[in-house]
Amino acid sequence: MTDIAYHPTRVRALRESLRALRAAEFPWTADTVYLNNASTGPIPERTRRALDEFTAKRTAPHLLPDRELFAGLAAARLGIAHLLNADPSEIALATNTSFGLHLAARALPLKPGDIVLLSDKEFPANVYPWLMLKKEGITVEVARCGPEGWPDESHLLERLRDPRVRVLAVSFVQFSNGYRADLKKLGAAARANGTYLVVDAIQGIGNSVLDVRETPVDILACGGQKWLLSPWGSGFVYVRKELIQTLEPAITGWMAFEGTDDFSRLTEYNPTFRADARRFEMITLPYQDFVGLTASLGLLLEIAGLAARDRRARHRGGHARGPRAGREVGAGERRAHRVSARGSPSLGDPVRRAAQSRRGVPRDQAGAHRVQLARGRDTPLAARLQYCRGDGEGRRGAG
Ligand SMILES: Cc1ncc(COP(=O)(O)O)c(C=O)c1O
Repeated sequence: MTDIAYHPTRVRALRESLRALRAAEFPWTADTVYLNNASTGPIPERTRRALDEFTAKRTAPHLLPDRELFAGLAAARLGIAHLLNADPSEIALATNTSFGLHLAARALPLKPGDIVLLSDKEFPANVYPWLMLKKEGITVEVARCGPEGWPDESHLLERLRDPRVRVLAVSFVQFSNGYRADLKKLGAAARANGTYLVVDAIQGIGNSVLDVRETPVDILACGGQKWLLSPWGSGFVYVRKELIQTLEPAITGWMAFEGTDDFSRLTEYNPTFRADARRFEMITLPYQDFVGLTASLGLLLEIAGLAARDRRARHRGGHARGPRAGREVGAGERRAHRVSARGSPSLGDPVRRAAQSRRGVPRDQAGAHRVQLARGRDTPLAARLQYCRGDGEGRRGAG
């Protein structure tokens, strides 16, 4: 699943670029092999610099006006949206994965007799929020894993024919063995049954591609501290656009409501929730952690951009596909979906505008958003990072 299958010359060139990037961003890897990304991902040098710069300003708060703090959050939402091919209005920032999973458990319209379907051996962050619903008469059904210890997708698909199953909550990638769920298949079956698909994505986003326009996910929760190479305290929830206005947060932040951007009107207590996913945010958020997240997303997008450039060069040269390493990758998986921030007003403009106006997002971060994001399971991003599970078992990509 993490194989890369390019012509050897191109693999070498790409390897060189990535080696240089690794030396610049993770200099300590020259003499250290780190295999525990699944627990905590390393912070790239560019992120450390962004954090240091922010902290230096934080010592004298007048150096950090509100508009800069909020532009920092907007840049984080935008970067996350790029990564998922979502719209920024579908992203709520959060301080961890658990927040988004609790949000799903509390906001989705469930009633006594409804079934929440889980797979056994899920990380507890994706179990406790659902177990808490039992006392409200909701059944939590825990499906047995298959003989390999992976979620038994055939069984889950079977259960997704039962109209009482209102929620399927699964991890994108399992924390204990690295099994990656076929979310497209599960999502399609869930949609057909009128079941909500809720995803704990922290072990997958950053090492695997998930395009929410192609994968019917309803709510997806992710922390930034692992594969997004970001500070603890950074994370997000994706809520599908059509769902946002049908859901109300069970607990609310004071900026979840319309009109609260205007601080002179705060005590009007406007009762109308925002129309976008910011209705789910709990302001105040750790601004510094999201500045860090944005910088790290810039690195991930840059790596994806290297892959995109390589792919374009390959296509221009009419290069025959070289000998393939590892498993065969399906045509659908190889397809690259490029989202150019330049060419996409809805995604690119806020970051660019903020950079151009010399406030809000620092220039280097805005630049990072201009790289092209390539999507495809055979990107070097997926190839270079290693899965490493809590049990110490790792699988190395061919890259
Ligand atoms: C699958 C999974 N979900 C969630 C978490 C963590 O949740 P949170 O970000 O709320 O601490 C982990 C690991 O720490 C995990 O492996």
